Amino acid sequence: MPRSLISRLFFFIISITLFIGCSSSDKEKNNTAFMDGNGNKGGVFSGNSKRNPMLRNPEFSIPVDPNLARSLTYSRIRTQAPFVAMTFDDGPHPVHTPRLLDILKVRNIKATFFVVGTNTRRYPHIIRRMVAEGHEVGNHTVNHKYLSRISIEEARAEVLGCERAIVAACGIKPRILRPPGGHINNRVKVWLNREFGYSTIMWAVDPEDWKRPGSGVVAHRIVSETDAGEIILAHDIHGPTIAAMPRALDGLLSKGYRFVTVSQLISIERRQVVKAEEPSEFYGFKNS
Ligand code: NI
Repeated sequence: MPRSLISRLFFFIISITLFIGCSSSDKEKNNTAFMDGNGNKGGVFSGNSKRNPMLRNPEFSIPVDPNLARSLTYSRIRTQAPFVAMTFDDGPHPVHTPRLLDILKVRNIKATFFVVGTNTRRYPHIIRRMVAEGHEVGNHTVNHKYLSRISIEEARAEVLGCERAIVAACGIKPRILRPPGGHINNRVKVWLNREFGYSTIMWAVDPEDWKRPGSGVVAHRIVSETDAGEIILAHDIHGPTIAAMPRALDGLLSKGYRFVTVSQLISIERRQVVKAEEPSEFYGFKNS
């Protein structure tokens, strides 16, 4: 066993120990783990939740190396470990996004937000809260323009404008972009990568929450359709989507899935390629 691996395993054990210690102290306060978005107990997965009120995402240390080569585009990664990435588009919203951040916080879930530049300029404090709480912020253009349908000059202004709004809000340059409406083609993906260093992030799971099918349907689709390594799409500007999140997130946690940001997910894939000889216990999971 290489020395670096031993030290990483040791760190993982320490992390788990700290996690167990911390979670017991949080037990009494603000635990909404078995409430839905309206603060009511119940829902599709309430049976599991009541038996296991401490549904919290474990603490992971998955560093993101900015120099690591990334692919042009991702909707999932290939992995045996049950990592998934929850993504939220079109915010920040002044009411819904802070509610969502509360829901994520009590579960220790780190998500990825593809924010719109106009909203970012309006609510920069919400962007700062996202970053402070460990979430990733990605580019979703200034005005939610369909990049494959506009001129290159307009596309450049849309991408750069959103990037500058994010940097002005939190000081961190985004490295991932989700194309508004999913409208993209290979030529634009190559251009985004060459000119800005972006990877284009699509999705593997789409609950179609923007069609407002109801919170129960959104939660059920997310829990039933998600597999290991997949990126899940949702929108933090719709109230019913936020209301669906406690059931969706607890449902995935109780099925054994663990949440990381998109860049951490990409990093996991890159490390699997680089260190294929390492056992899966490196990430604290055994292949079943
Ligand atoms: Ni969008």
